Amino acid sequence: MQVFSTVRELTEFLDTLMKAEKRIGFVPTMGALHSGHLSLIEKSSSENDITVCSIFVNPTQFNNPSDLANYPRTLERDTTLLQTVACDVLFAPSVAEMYPKDEVFSFQNIDFKGIDSVMEGKYRKGHFTGVVQVVKRLFDIVIPTNAYFGEKDYQQLAIIRRMVQSLNLPVKIIGCAIVREFDGLAMSSRNARLSEKERENAALIYKTLLVAKQNVQKTTVEELKKWVTEVLNTNTFLRVEYVEVADSATLLSIDEWQQSSSRRLFVAVFVGEIRLIDNIVL
Ligand code: PAJ
Repeated sequence: MQVFSTVRELTEFLDTLMKAEKRIGFVPTMGALHSGHLSLIEKSSSENDITVCSIFVNPTQFNNPSDLANYPRTLERDTTLLQTVACDVLFAPSVAEMYPKDEVFSFQNIDFKGIDSVMEGKYRKGHFTGVVQVVKRLFDIVIPTNAYFGEKDYQQLAIIRRMVQSLNLPVKIIGCAIVREFDGLAMSSRNARLSEKERENAALIYKTLLVAKQNVQKTTVEELKKWVTEVLNTNTFLRVEYVEVADSATLLSIDEWQQSSSRRLFVAVFVGEIRLIDNIVL
């Protein structure tokens, strides 16, 4: 595996491959890698000639400074892990390398059709501006044929699809299924920050989503959201930030099942100090 920390080295290396018309698969991450990330890399390597993974804890997408400060940074361990899977290139730049002082970023010319102002967009102000900024910059550097994003961050995936469509970027966005722990908790780099007790209780999130899914036809949308909120809030380790039912494509909230043929249930839950998100197709 080749490891690069500067844009110049990486583009020099990728240039030759591009000229040879090799398919480049790209998996952007913030590191603290787990099997969820690795599943994206495996998928990329099965569909491309070369797979590039980036590790960059992007400061511009953190709305909470302590979340940024405490975000796990395990580059050495991540590098070793990537060597055990089919990753060909690791790009691990510094903040200065990613954001040179003279670069101007404009978010205004993309119409996100409201996807950016609900759920994560509503509760994490500025988060998606930062995500779009960094992913656009990474796409400009890597120029991937295909890029892989997890459905764990379903709204992020929808935002990236919209950005690519709006800016007419020559990259195909591929959504990948959520990888879960043995007890159903969605894998996340933030899980490592949970205490033993918090980790145990966090399993209730997915268990509740599963029961909700089984009860879709028996309740109204409002009743289902209320039930999920109550079940989660009853556990003393958990505190719900939002429970939403939205259309899978537009991500706009629905109040009646008939309003959408493909809908998802989305939750954001604090487990102690740690904020986790999950979603399930209904
Ligand atoms: P990060 O949280 O590191 O996630 C990197 C990619 O892995 C994302 O596409 C995310 O959806 C996917 N992923 C995380 N947990 C997963 C799981 N349990 N199952 C499947 N896929 C999973 O998302 C980001 O980083 C950043 O916002 C980024 C896109 C890199 C921009 O900074």
